Amino acid sequence: MRAGLTEAVESSAGLEELYQKIVKAKERVTPYIHETPIDYSKTFSDSTESQLYLKLENLQKTGSFKVRGAFNKLLSISESLRSRGVIAVSAGNHAQGVAFAARALGVHSTIIMPETAPVSKYLATKGYGAEVLLYGKYIHESMKKAQEILNKTGAILVHPYDDPDIVAGQGTLGLELVETRPDVVVVPIGGGGLISGIAAALKARNSGVKIIGVQSSASPSMKVSKDLGTLMEVEPSFSIADGILVKSPSQFTFSIIRDLVDDVVLVDDEEIAEAMFLLLERNKTLAEGAGAAPLAALLTGKVKAKGRRVVAVISGGNVDLTLLGNVVEKVLHRIRRVVRVKMHVPDKPGYLNRILSYVAEVRGNVIDVVHDRISAEVRPGFTLIYVTFEVPTSEYVRQLLSKLMAEGIESRILD
Ligand SMILES: Cc1ncc(COP(=O)(O)O)c(C=O)c1O
Repeated sequence: MRAGLTEAVESSAGLEELYQKIVKAKERVTPYIHETPIDYSKTFSDSTESQLYLKLENLQKTGSFKVRGAFNKLLSISESLRSRGVIAVSAGNHAQGVAFAARALGVHSTIIMPETAPVSKYLATKGYGAEVLLYGKYIHESMKKAQEILNKTGAILVHPYDDPDIVAGQGTLGLELVETRPDVVVVPIGGGGLISGIAAALKARNSGVKIIGVQSSASPSMKVSKDLGTLMEVEPSFSIADGILVKSPSQFTFSIIRDLVDDVVLVDDEEIAEAMFLLLERNKTLAEGAGAAPLAALLTGKVKAKGRRVVAVISGGNVDLTLLGNVVEKVLHRIRRVVRVKMHVPDKPGYLNRILSYVAEVRGNVIDVVHDRISAEVRPGFTLIYVTFEVPTSEYVRQLLSKLMAEGIESRILD
């Protein structure tokens, strides 16, 4: 079936076959999942000079699109096969999607996670009723354990992307975009299941729509494969977009992407962090790194949006709060809404008060003050003051530095 579809997607008959699978998947999964909102964003439309919509799949059950594929897969296998139970290998959203769908359908699920999986993901997956086994340092080691269990029990392996039923399930998201009539749809790529399904769902009926994939520059396997025209493996490095770190995309998803996806672009962690921050602050939308990657590609101009109707697929919102806190703090520093200013002032009574009153004049909210009289760089008769504070915009910092200069106080912003 898969080989047939893979070859066939290159022809219009193959695309039609996949489209029909997606339509069938929609019938199957509709009772179990949300049709998530498609939100017009004035802010992001203005900043990209486009009409920009956000497909809010972070509001999907389990916090990501993964339940679409998981339900479709489980519902497309016979009851007798399902009774053997299902297995998935994942440290992230796929684990939660499979565990959730399995419980809803009364199927036993075993999820193998690497020992390094975040505790929050482990607990969430267990909370959805799965039997969770921690095995190996990396996913490919966990995979070996899964194989062992499969050989013993005959359970069904639910692959995160290398499976037409998974791709068809993810494609149901594409059908929900039809009425928005987008010119461009921007989608994150890990193994390529999500974008393959969306591309087939939309291009089968409108070949003019552009489908653009986004990968993390820490894991560009599909970008490299598409550029070279052949499937390539690329070892991922660290990224905050953990959902899209994939070493080996599949031949199946690669051939769909090669034929139906117009371009694949890369974004780095700073760009992703800024998109996460803006989604949270402006749109009140909590996106994980992978989910924010499409907006990052649009805001940086890597995907041209001007004058077009664009959908950015916010594919998930499962992010550790410690990581989220770190992202917010880092972006506030980078855009100079939180700054640390170092000042050399005479060691005389009243100077600290004066400095703090200047900070207050520019509406600075003090976070931290350090007063240093003894380190080697302090000149005799002087003291060093470090003030960390928050301001409404970076313009206020400029005003403070001018004021300090006018008062003869040597100062500089620390990065
Ligand atoms: C939030 C999120 N977005 C995007 C993706 C990429 O999906 P795919 O592997 O189907 O390309 C994933 C994969 O786990 C994900 O968790």
